[in-house]
Amino acid sequence: MDNFVINGGHELFGEVSISGAKNAAVAIIPAAILADDVVRIENIPQISDVQLIIEILDRMGADIKLVNKNTLDIDTSNINYQSVPYELTSHFRASYYLIGAMLGRFNQAEVAMPGGCNFGVRPIDQHIKGFEMLGADVDIVDGMVCAKADKLMGTSIYMDVVSVGATINIMLAAVKARGLTIIENAAKEPHIVDLANFLNSMGADVRGAGTDVIKIRGVEKMHGCTYSIIPDQIEAGTYMVATAACGGDVLIKNVIPKHLESISAKLEEAGAEVIEYDDAVRVTRFKALNKCNVKTMPHPGFPTDMQPQMAVLLSIANGTSILSESVWDNRFQYVGQLLRMGADIQVDGKVAVIVGVPKLAGVSVKATDLRAGAAMIIAGLVAEGTTTVEDIVYVDRGYEDIVEKLSALGADIKRVSVNDDNAVQTAG
Ligand code: EPZ
Repeated sequence: MDNFVINGGHELFGEVSISGAKNAAVAIIPAAILADDVVRIENIPQISDVQLIIEILDRMGADIKLVNKNTLDIDTSNINYQSVPYELTSHFRASYYLIGAMLGRFNQAEVAMPGGCNFGVRPIDQHIKGFEMLGADVDIVDGMVCAKADKLMGTSIYMDVVSVGATINIMLAAVKARGLTIIENAAKEPHIVDLANFLNSMGADVRGAGTDVIKIRGVEKMHGCTYSIIPDQIEAGTYMVATAACGGDVLIKNVIPKHLESISAKLEEAGAEVIEYDDAVRVTRFKALNKCNVKTMPHPGFPTDMQPQMAVLLSIANGTSILSESVWDNRFQYVGQLLRMGADIQVDGKVAVIVGVPKLAGVSVKATDLRAGAAMIIAGLVAEGTTTVEDIVYVDRGYEDIVEKLSALGADIKRVSVNDDNAVQTAG
């Protein structure tokens, strides 16, 4: 197991380049199942969730070639239909995209229920509703989602809840269904648009992605293509918040500024300055941080995946801030770790009241999930003294080269391996 050891108190200066978007990559890679030819996917982030989805396709018989560390050629023309067991799906949420992709390719799917960060109950009723409305019979048997259809027929589907995963899964199942599928009350995240663009590059007919009505006209065949994944909105936002929290001046490159507008606006409200360029944003902060209220919302609102990171910044801002989580039932588990560092936060249901304190103190903390892990790192960067972040396997799920990227900005952070006898070596 590895830990991060951080000596805090350093401002951040320099440049950081953002990797491909995790939540786009884990949808686009399984979507390759729908093509009957080689697809070349570029700007793939080297993170464990992506490695897991690639391993599943490999086990299904896909021919996967590494072109370079962030580019793959994937040929699924000879994959075999097979069920996907729990030991492969339980480590991450996006494994359930295999259901939509396999339904689209084989008219059937048998995939174990997914894992993923623990924010309370994470139902998949909207996914199942979509598959059934397209004509599939769906049952959950011994933890396996079993879906089967004679043929998938396009239809209109009104989502009861704005759901990124369900919107994506229905898109994957519908692109080769017969006729027109209309998804209403669809999610509008950047990775939904990225998937739609990828599907259309393979010959699909998807229109309206990024709005709340997506129209998909089924096609017979889908061919290979070359596609580059968009930059990661949440990775970029994490470095933006880290810079504002630590103070300093950082150019965050290889981003789409429009995807970051809600984060930029909140950071300026808190006292940072954000300058937008074509494919970069520059964050500077030298004056005191001010309180501000944050409410997480589906895109284009403030992203829920930036909520823990923002809580760290607000915990050292002047005044009292209100942080409301409107997407997940229980996404404040990390607060207990911040309280151990001296933060003053009270959580009541889906609202956290954050009273700013002059400083945080470095201690040993745990990463309770992926974005909470990123938040613990930011807390260590701003804290006085040394912070050890444990359970960083979560962080490796979504942040490529985070130690190298932060060190290049002047942070004092090291990855250390803790082996069985607790002897500590510094990892390479
Ligand atoms: C995706 O999760 C992301 N994961 C999450 O990011 C992100 O927090 C979330 O979207 C919201 O943006 C991936 O893309 C792999 P949802 P997903 O379906 O698809 C309810 C990260 O840090 N709901 O949009 O699982 C659900 O309970 C991760 O990268 C139903 O009720 O989220 C929640 O309250 C963490 N029924 C709300 O909808 C369903 O069938 C939004 O969930 C599906 C969802």
